[in-house]
Amino acid sequence: MSSHGSASLTNRAKKLTVIDGGGSPGPELSIVIPTFNERDNIVPLIERLRTALRNIAWEVIFVDDDSVDKTLDVVRDLSIRDRRIRGIRRINRRGLAGACVEGILSSSAPIVAVMDADLQHDETRLAEMLEIIRRDEGDLVVATRYGDEGSADGALTSIRSAGSRVAIRAAQRLLHVETTDPMSGFFMVRRWIVEKAAPKLSQQGFKILLDLIASSPRSVRIAEIPYVFRPRIHGESKMDAAVVTEYLGLLVSKWSGDLISGRIALFGMVGSSGVVLHLAVLRLLLLQGATFSIAQLGAMLVAMVSNYTLNNTLTYRDRRRRGWQLLTGLVLFSLLCSVGILAGVGVSSLFYGNKSQWWLAGLAGAVIGAAWNYITNSLITWRHAR
Ligand code: GDD
Ligand code: MN
Repeated sequence: MSSHGSASLTNRAKKLTVIDGGGSPGPELSIVIPTFNERDNIVPLIERLRTALRNIAWEVIFVDDDSVDKTLDVVRDLSIRDRRIRGIRRINRRGLAGACVEGILSSSAPIVAVMDADLQHDETRLAEMLEIIRRDEGDLVVATRYGDEGSADGALTSIRSAGSRVAIRAAQRLLHVETTDPMSGFFMVRRWIVEKAAPKLSQQGFKILLDLIASSPRSVRIAEIPYVFRPRIHGESKMDAAVVTEYLGLLVSKWSGDLISGRIALFGMVGSSGVVLHLAVLRLLLLQGATFSIAQLGAMLVAMVSNYTLNNTLTYRDRRRRGWQLLTGLVLFSLLCSVGILAGVGVSSLFYGNKSQWWLAGLAGAVIGAAWNYITNSLITWRHAR
């Protein structure tokens, strides 16, 4: 018998083992739900899902970042009685996007949905979203608050609603993303699309959908379906300034075609804010009658502490230093940045000495100094996940 024949025999044997395994088939739809302190929402959510998904083979995967309110205990209680429900517990980690990716990768259903746990997303839309994918009218269905009949009027403050619209406009312009709600946390997609994009997706922040669209081939067809974003009843929103800044980092990163990572973009933004702060404090101190060197020293210290604090809470949010570590980190950061400044000055003098343009010399020094600061601080000051 040829080697080809024996290979197909083994394949057939493998197929047989799968058929003979005696198990029941897996679900068609996996719903991934990130949770962080959502204890009171779990039971009502499952009740609603059971009703909404009556004729569908579904499973639900809660991905919890070790909530202090023990959200997962509620999930585990439900799992004992219903095998369609399970939970993943992540320790020492935070991040809505990362939780979603992890949940999706843990599923094997061909179609996955992501939705919030807090009952703000309308679960009765799920069946229709699934129908769109079944009919092959799209590979990704976004539930949008801004389509024809969608709305978020009752659920968002006016500031947040305005911010949301600006962020959407920015995403559409910069990344040529065409959906009306690229920030939606409610969508359904063929699993292979996430599987393919997963290595490129950011773990931080809220913007998983935008990231997914920006990291996927243009050929992925996006459909939309309107829904009404409901107000939150139990618990509170985890959206904050850090989430917004992370979003900006993601925009810059994707806009540069992944050349710049989200972290570098944030580090750069923090650095630039330091320059502005430095000049402002310098001017202020000079106006107060301080000598130039004292004023310059004061401005440097203020900028250094501000840069350190911002980097610690935003750029390296996932490796944030606390307590004593916060102080030792400041010392490390200042030392490394001082070396960076010296290196930068050295490089610009070198360029300038070689008769290059003053601005080129200055720019080279700034780039080298910034690169040094970023690399060494990533490797030393914020080396470990905490
Ligand atoms: N595992 C995990 N880890 N889950 C998280 C985390 C986290 O760090 N942060 C938030 N979540 C969970 C919440 O428990 C909730 O189930 C869901 O993610 C959404 O969080 P909310 O804090 O309720 O977000 P929101 O209502 O302010 O924001 C919604 O609207 C945004 C657009 O305005 C979400 O749908 C966002 O995805 C969406 O971008
Ligand atoms: Mn919410």
